[in-house]
Amino acid sequence: MLDELVKNLVLVKQDFAKNYVGSAHIQEVIPASVSKQFPIGAHHLAMLHDFAQKNPIYFNSFEQEIAGILCTVYEGDINEYWLNSIKHGSSCQPFYPTWIMSAYVMASIAKKLGYKELVDIGSGDGRIAFCGKILGLISHSIEIDDVLVELQERISKATNQNFNPKCKDALDFDYSQLQLTHPLFFIGGLAQMGGDILATNIIDKINAISNLSHNTGIVFAGTYSKKQLSSNLDNGGWSSLIEKYNLNIVDTVSLPTVWTFDQTIETPYIFTKFN
Ligand SMILES: C[S@@+](CC[C@H](N)C(=O)[O-])C[C@H]1O[C@@H](n2cnc3c(N)ncnc32)[C@H](O)[C@@H]1O
Repeated sequence: MLDELVKNLVLVKQDFAKNYVGSAHIQEVIPASVSKQFPIGAHHLAMLHDFAQKNPIYFNSFEQEIAGILCTVYEGDINEYWLNSIKHGSSCQPFYPTWIMSAYVMASIAKKLGYKELVDIGSGDGRIAFCGKILGLISHSIEIDDVLVELQERISKATNQNFNPKCKDALDFDYSQLQLTHPLFFIGGLAQMGGDILATNIIDKINAISNLSHNTGIVFAGTYSKKQLSSNLDNGGWSSLIEKYNLNIVDTVSLPTVWTFDQTIETPYIFTKFN
């Protein structure tokens, strides 16, 4: 079911990006209703729309048929948030969001794999943690930028979904206080742009908590874009770190993100677990 949904989401994104004539800074699409191409619970779909509607980064929305599917297009602007997010000394990656539908797919995979907790490291406006919460996982949302955390708190209140926003530098945070049992960590940054620093730090911290690593998974956002000046794009640029820490790759799923909107390739998310 998820494979089909991913295939259709990518088709819709490609068709939308090819024909988009608007001028919004960012834009994304959520199907307007449940269909055989998008077989998700009506209640969950309504909550994804709720997240977009209650999120002030979007200033406009309209319905449009895309690749034969009626969708809602959300248009927005993240300039101000982006600028704030780069002001911090230990920022490992500026704010760019994953598409809300992509966040929902990844949280669904986390659930299918049996994880109990979802920890989004560098969570931006909190969409991955939000999706984990609506799917019944315990979510933790770690973000360094106070303006983004205020935004998360506002969305959390307006949607009535507490996905636990925390204004913390992920490099300093003590993860043992979360009392995790079976967590999946999402690393919010490309390896070549500072995500590797974030990932190395988190892995060392997980290894330092007794009995946690064997129950833990990590998801890396990768890239296959030649624009990233890297000689090694295997596993989206994460190969050397995966080898160094002897992680097992469980799944790779390529999904639309704001930063790949004008590219013909999507963002690969690599699901791994400790050996
Ligand atoms: C590319 S965005 C990803 C946002 C979100 N995870 C998503 O996929 O939509 C990366 C986020 O990581 C945050 N960040 C960067 N360095 C951080 C750090 N050391 N601790 C916590 N958050 C950090 C940035 O402020 C930014 O919001």
